[in-house]
Amino acid sequence: MTAVEPEQKGWLGKSVKRKEDARFIAGRGNYIEDIKLPNMLYMSILRSPFAHATINSIDTSRAAELPGVVAVVTGELLAEHNLAWMPTLSGDTQAVLATDKVRMQGQEVACVVAEDPYIAHDALELIDVDYEPLPVITTPQAALEDTAPVIRDDKEGQADNKVYQWEAGDAEATEKAFAEADKVVRLVTHYPRCHPAPLECCGCVADVNPVTGKATIYMTSQAPHAHRTVFALVAGLPEQNIQIISPDIGGGFGNKVPVYPGYVVATAASLLLGRPVKWIEDRTGNLISTGFARDFYMDGELALKEDGTMTGLRVKMLSDQGYSFADAQPSKFKAGLFHIVTGSYDIPAAHVVTEGAYTNKAPGGVAYRCSFRVTEASYFIERLVQNAAYELGVDPAEFRRQNFIQPEQFPYTSATGFEYDSGNYEAALDQALERVGYKELREEQKQAREEGRLLGIGLASFTEVVGAGPSRNYDILGIKMFDSAELRVHPTGKAILKLGVKSQGQGHETTFAQIAAHELGIPPEDITVQEGDTDNTPYGLGTYASRSTPTAGAATVIAARKVREKAKKLAAHLLEASEDDLEWADDKFVVKGAPERAKTIQEIAFAAYTDHPEGMEAGLEATNYYDPPNMTYPFGTYAVVVEIDRGTGQWKVKKVVAVDDCGTRINPMIVEGQIMGGLTEGFGTAAMELITFDEDGNCIGSNFMDYLLPTAWETPAFELGETVTPSPHHPIGAKGVGESATVGSPAAFVNAVVDGLAHAGVRDLDMPLTPSKVWEALDKAGLAE
Ligand code: CDP
Repeated sequence: MTAVEPEQKGWLGKSVKRKEDARFIAGRGNYIEDIKLPNMLYMSILRSPFAHATINSIDTSRAAELPGVVAVVTGELLAEHNLAWMPTLSGDTQAVLATDKVRMQGQEVACVVAEDPYIAHDALELIDVDYEPLPVITTPQAALEDTAPVIRDDKEGQADNKVYQWEAGDAEATEKAFAEADKVVRLVTHYPRCHPAPLECCGCVADVNPVTGKATIYMTSQAPHAHRTVFALVAGLPEQNIQIISPDIGGGFGNKVPVYPGYVVATAASLLLGRPVKWIEDRTGNLISTGFARDFYMDGELALKEDGTMTGLRVKMLSDQGYSFADAQPSKFKAGLFHIVTGSYDIPAAHVVTEGAYTNKAPGGVAYRCSFRVTEASYFIERLVQNAAYELGVDPAEFRRQNFIQPEQFPYTSATGFEYDSGNYEAALDQALERVGYKELREEQKQAREEGRLLGIGLASFTEVVGAGPSRNYDILGIKMFDSAELRVHPTGKAILKLGVKSQGQGHETTFAQIAAHELGIPPEDITVQEGDTDNTPYGLGTYASRSTPTAGAATVIAARKVREKAKKLAAHLLEASEDDLEWADDKFVVKGAPERAKTIQEIAFAAYTDHPEGMEAGLEATNYYDPPNMTYPFGTYAVVVEIDRGTGQWKVKKVVAVDDCGTRINPMIVEGQIMGGLTEGFGTAAMELITFDEDGNCIGSNFMDYLLPTAWETPAFELGETVTPSPHHPIGAKGVGESATVGSPAAFVNAVVDGLAHAGVRDLDMPLTPSKVWEALDKAGLAE
């Protein structure tokens, strides 16, 4: 992609090169590890080797004596300050440092603060903890058995391991649909636990000024404003005295939404010691103790008429939440947005029952490039639909087409109560089929089978739901989910745009500048975007779940339009014309019928500070807190072609076509990057990513030798296509896109492998599809060589 010519008018749909890359490429990014403050101390965390154990005692005396150690912090010490436990973003509690028990392997037990990071680390080995191991629960099914030990016995009134139970849809209507069905197809599947594994692990530098009491906390936060509020609530510090600065972040993917003990202890230590304290998490700490994703067990059925019409869907879902319900979930929807499980299909009746259980694992369920459990829901429906097509003996593509919600049905209210804004699913399907060469491939598949080769063609026609709010339905801990933009144009016509969201690599500095540029005609390079500093940006709920463009992107449009309103008044004054006689032309106001009489936005900006009419306030700026009327519903169809080796069970990807629709694309190059990242993640989950545990609760997958992520070597090439169905309620028609590919692709990859084996009756395969698992399936089906 090349940068666009600046003389081109209008800034939407332009692949402007990413502004932020200049500093990243030059190694001039400013990450937490780059922050060094005078007199700074370093903190290291002692983690539990046991998944479940009573703590009889913690002896810190040997560690405290090590030269260079300044303090050893335990849960007991924190308890004296009422800080041993903290609230989570889901309204549960989580231990900051363990006091009574440890409830997962890797749980934070004590922290050493020292003059040097190596001393802090060495001193951990000198802390003596007397543990008494307890029975361990590693699955939600075991957690819900009557005989299971109660993991959260610290919580008053908690007599079992249930976290939540929640349902959506109409049970009675669904029951009726199933009673009247000609055919019922069932799928029981597990979406395994995986980890967002951002390149940069979590960390912070907490600097509490002993004189002013001001706490400046540099931290890896996807939601700095919300985190500040939580800090104010946890620590009882006055909110105006807490400044959270989230500098450059090396990936988040939902992993940097929860509040972690390390942040809280470093801040408490800085408060107690009067010196800045830095904590940088290591890779194992990140993998075993921070927000996991997925771990959903799903069991559901599709009711069908003989002719293939879908008439009902019911799904039971059980999630493994680990020992604390700690992700951000909209408080009205305990299982996130699992409602989207009816997908792209016009299913008149649906009923969803979801349950969450505590286990002896790290808290999980973060929106890993997925808006609150949409990935799991999409995976389920796309697998079930593909299997239903085999049951009916019809083509999976045509079966989807037959049941799609039609363009004229939008806005469409799904059986679980979501109002889809817009869509044209058939257009995306057709394009994907065309690009992949579907017809020819089906012929090739037949031919290949005759030759003894296994070719599989997998599809997924997913619908996403992104952009929380609206605030009437969505809140985190009661904080309504809106977002914000503050735009200030300076005298020389250069602008600063401050946002309530926070990029972790999505390119906000470029795309949001493009949005403001499009509205005002100020070139993007003249607009600096600032995010992530709670003292210097308007309040917002942060970036996750593809919400930035639908919320803060819309806020930017509205703020820019407010600026233009004022600019019009200034132009009328400068041109000595009536406002009614002026019209906007890309970057200037022009007197209608007299194009030579015009004032550019830059001239107007100068006048806002030097020549504004009497009675008008100086300056040219506006703020908007945008509360979207609805979510946006991006969609797409992915097609994957694989060949399966009958000797080894290995499957090789031959082709991937991904057609996405995210409405108006602001920056196509960035959108493509987002999609490719998501496709890679989807491929990784389908092929190799798995965090599992042994019966003692030891995490298998605590490093990148055991937890496999796809590298450029394994990752297939992706061919991208697009359709454009603007969101009718977004001021520029954009829908979010950041996670769509992660939502859509795992099912497409798995469906492709299943498709290769379906003729032999193999339909139920769970991710990750390791060669040994596929080989077993081949063997069972008599296809192995
Ligand atoms: O909230 P997050 O930034 O992760 O997700 P998003 O709103 O889906 O946006 C991801 C990136 O893609 C941002 O830089 C967006 O501005 C950009 N984008 C775009 O250029 N056009 C769209 N229609 C949607 C997103």
